[in-house]
Amino acid sequence: MDTFIIEGGHPVSGEIPVSGAKNAALPVLAATLLTRDEVSLERIPKVRDIRTMANLIESVGAEVTPNDGGYRIRAAEVTSPEAPYELVKTMRASSLVLGPLVARCGEARVSMPGGCAIGARPINLHLAGLEKLGAKITQEHGYIRAHAPHGLKGGVIHFDRITVTGTEDLMMAAVLAEGETTIENAALEPEVADLADLLTKMGARIEGAGTSTIRIQGVSELHGATHAIIPDRIEAGTFLIAGALAGDPLTVCGVNPNHVSALIDKMRQAGVEFSFPADDRIEVRAAGTLRAVDLATKEYPGFATDMQAQFLAMMTQAQGESQIIETIFENRFMHVSELLRMGADITLDGNRATVRGKTQLSGARVMASDLRASASLVIAALTAQGETVIDRVYHIDRGYERIEEKLRGVGAKIRRAR
Ligand code: EPZ
Repeated sequence: MDTFIIEGGHPVSGEIPVSGAKNAALPVLAATLLTRDEVSLERIPKVRDIRTMANLIESVGAEVTPNDGGYRIRAAEVTSPEAPYELVKTMRASSLVLGPLVARCGEARVSMPGGCAIGARPINLHLAGLEKLGAKITQEHGYIRAHAPHGLKGGVIHFDRITVTGTEDLMMAAVLAEGETTIENAALEPEVADLADLLTKMGARIEGAGTSTIRIQGVSELHGATHAIIPDRIEAGTFLIAGALAGDPLTVCGVNPNHVSALIDKMRQAGVEFSFPADDRIEVRAAGTLRAVDLATKEYPGFATDMQAQFLAMMTQAQGESQIIETIFENRFMHVSELLRMGADITLDGNRATVRGKTQLSGARVMASDLRASASLVIAALTAQGETVIDRVYHIDRGYERIEEKLRGVGAKIRRAR
């Protein structure tokens, strides 16, 4: 298993590029199953989860051809509408093929996604939505089967709680359903709007994507399209926090500043200053002194849960006490025990972490536990005294493209050891 070896205390300066968004790429890859024509996708990040999804859609019958910056995909035939356990157990987002497979072939069999490090993460809302569109849902031998032999019929879906992939799954199911579908209490994340952009290019009729009510008029079939996905707002946010701690200055390139406004507001409250040299660039330098600020994660446009771990690492370097509340997932503080080993002063109480700073972190051997916790450890290591070794960096490879090369390119002392 690969490790990262990081020598702390070095500034990061210059331009660091942002890749396409992993969480936009996953649903758009699944969406290619909705047409027999070729769909060309660009700005797709080369990360493990994307390779897993490409393998999954290939296993159901799609022809997947990598090209520079993305894939050309043609699902001329869907030979077996099944997402096997071996693939689903490595990536929960495999449930994103449920909607497209039922819409395309009238049937889908998806292994029940097990829990994951950050929480139970059930898909009950996805299944309830499919039932509203006329699918029959059964569960056997650890597999969910969704069956709609006469096709899906439009309906009204109200999500009891906001779900990002649930919204995406049902949008993909509804575009080929007969009649109108309304999705209420839909997720507002930019990745939802990006998926709607692709589906519309493919001939779908969607209104309101990016708002809490999405209306879809079903059509009989979709055609091919070309689509470049949005930049990764979480990768961009991760680099902004690295810059706030060690930037001299750091310029994050290829970002959409509108997608990181909640993070920028919160970082400004902590004393970080930004400049915007171009509409897709944000410059940030190490703040003289950081102030402790409180935070509660929220669905978009609130502060992203995927940025909580990285922000918490930054609060170890702020003066004062910061209360960080995680409202989306039930177990998303796995990074805390590792930060404590680096000398941080943090106490946990349920979904609340209290961080007292400023503490001088010291390099240590630590272990990555999930994607964003790993990013938090990299950030902490950049500012720690001495050398940090991070084990199990396959977690970070799931969602960050060549992160050690990108950080080394701006002066960080980081290398990967096999
Ligand atoms: C998406 O996960 C993202 N993944 C996650 O990013 C992100 O943390 C999350 O949204 C929240 O923003 C992708 O887009 C591939 P949810 P998703 O459904 O859709 C509960 C990363 O680090 N829930 O919005 O799975 C659920 O347990 C990953 O890139 C149900 O109870 O999240 C959670 O508590 C991690 N039943 C809450 O809702 C359901 O049927 C929000 O989950 C669905 C969800």
